[in-house]
Amino acid sequence: ADDPLVIFTPSGKRGRVPVGTPVLEAARRLGVDLDSVCGGRGICSKCQVAPGKGAFPKHGLTVAEDALSPVNAVEERYDRIRGLKPGRRLGCQAQVQSDVVIDVPPESQLHRQVIRKSAAERVMAMDPAVRPFYVEVVEPDLDDPTGDFQRLSQALEDQWQIKGLRADLDVLSRIQPVLRKANWKVTALVWGDGRQPPQLIDLKPGLLETPLYGLAIDLGSTTIAGHLVALDDGRVLASSGLMNPQIRFGEDLMSRVSYSMMNAGGAAEMTLAVREGLAQLASALAGEAGITPSEIVEAVIVCNPVMHHLMLGIDPVELGQAPFAPATSDALVLRAAEIGLGIAPAARTYVLPIIAGHVGADCAAVVLSEQPQKAETPVLIVDVGTNAEIVLGDKTRVLACSSPTGPAFEGAQISSGQRAAPGAIERVRIDPDTKEPRFRIIGVDLWSDEDGFAEAAKATGITGICGSGIIEAVAEMRIAGLVDPSGLIGSAEQTGTARSVPEGRTHSYVLHDGTAEGGPRITVTQGDIRAIQLAKSALFAGARLLMDEFGIETLDRVVLAGAFGAHISPLHALVLGMIPDCAPDQVTSAGNAAGTGARIALCSRAARVEIEDQVRRITRIETAIAPRFQEHFVAANAIPHATDPFPELSR
Ligand code: FES
Repeated sequence: ADDPLVIFTPSGKRGRVPVGTPVLEAARRLGVDLDSVCGGRGICSKCQVAPGKGAFPKHGLTVAEDALSPVNAVEERYDRIRGLKPGRRLGCQAQVQSDVVIDVPPESQLHRQVIRKSAAERVMAMDPAVRPFYVEVVEPDLDDPTGDFQRLSQALEDQWQIKGLRADLDVLSRIQPVLRKANWKVTALVWGDGRQPPQLIDLKPGLLETPLYGLAIDLGSTTIAGHLVALDDGRVLASSGLMNPQIRFGEDLMSRVSYSMMNAGGAAEMTLAVREGLAQLASALAGEAGITPSEIVEAVIVCNPVMHHLMLGIDPVELGQAPFAPATSDALVLRAAEIGLGIAPAARTYVLPIIAGHVGADCAAVVLSEQPQKAETPVLIVDVGTNAEIVLGDKTRVLACSSPTGPAFEGAQISSGQRAAPGAIERVRIDPDTKEPRFRIIGVDLWSDEDGFAEAAKATGITGICGSGIIEAVAEMRIAGLVDPSGLIGSAEQTGTARSVPEGRTHSYVLHDGTAEGGPRITVTQGDIRAIQLAKSALFAGARLLMDEFGIETLDRVVLAGAFGAHISPLHALVLGMIPDCAPDQVTSAGNAAGTGARIALCSRAARVEIEDQVRRITRIETAIAPRFQEHFVAANAIPHATDPFPELSR
């Protein structure tokens, strides 16, 4: 008679296996994704399956009551001590007796599918670089003088086909007591990216029951944001951010590069500062999730090129001058200890590749998250920060450039500007008839003209205006006719509001009159408008330059990325002419796409290969030497624009 037929769901994979084959073994042979940490010893329960019962007309078979072998002693013991859900069997113990349909529940899939919430919504399979492997190691005796590490490696090779294991001194120095105390039964945490030799990251006594943890970090010039992620299913256990401690050396990137040029040892100071910040964030995230930092077995870091160099301890001086060559641009695998991350001492840190001297690993992470290379029609992705990183592409090709917007979009170089923090004005509306403003501040859930605002604002304090606030303010001033297309603020007579006050030879608009309403007086000055005009012209010119290179005149879709992108209203961005004309409902925010990309790379080795490949194929455009950049820049100074039509804006 034929061997029994085994059909696995949901994969639909099927095949015949000899009577008596354990389900776990059948799954392996048929290429079905069934997890196992203990290697079939009946102690980890990762191999749980749900065998079907009765008729399966779809598959043309009926599953007999005894299609799988009866519960054996190992399974019975597991069930007694730990409890198995009704209907579940341990795949490593249950053996196939006759035709059977076997369901693999999601938690038993090694490469669990998770739905990503990024713009290029797609299903991603969990495939982290570090995995736990339970092994039983042969004890040494006088006849077998090989080392403990060699016997551990042998056990991993015999039981898990892991060949050529390596270990850092730190782990080597700790394995003997662990092996002995655990009676030679241990869980080895092994890192492998499929390209470099496998590394022993840590050794845990017995069977490790807790998930492994990883860290995804978006290292920005202003803030360092991180997520602590469970590496079995990709869920985020804690998220946190802190101010980049390098800020004391300069607000924006270029001022930090010049700090390192002007001060001997300046780069080293900044390296120390940023590494301290990273370690502090790692420990804060671990604390929030209730674990110790040493339980974090891998980190992924994305950042712009200057941060990249400073974090690595490389002087960024070459990034500050043409031809802006980075010291290294490929993806890196470092020991976390090399950069003082303070997580598991042998943990690895993966740093995404840099695209160009001005276009960083953070932009690569945005590409990984947003997938422009898969778009049917060109999509423009703008990551707004101190430096705007701009990507334009579709499935035929992808272009990237950066544009020197300066820090105005982040509230710097603005008279009442500040970083986005409680008390900062973040949204502004101006009545086109009365020219009266209303606004919202971060930390208070009310508009300034709503009941209870004054009370609530007193507690927080109105402290200044942040990047999104100034963008909205300028756009609203333009809509209300307070500012003309050239960016000039009109006088009280011209605009018909006493909120326009003279200041030197120009005018300012009083957004918040501190004396009457409490808090400091917050105005939008002529200088503020000029700063925003310069920043938005640079952004616009970069985007237009990419469109020229791509050979397109109009845009169908724009994605604003960056924590900051999440707060810009598409309409105001268009009114200001920050981005080329596009239907407002086609301008979307991807939130912190760089952080999402870091998380994807943390959870998937395949994603790392994919982005390294993709980065090699991106065409870099250098704005500094493109003559058309200057032309676009000058033309873009008006609000919204002098020559480019904005048909979508006629409202
Ligand atoms: Fe561990 Fe079955 S593989 S319990």
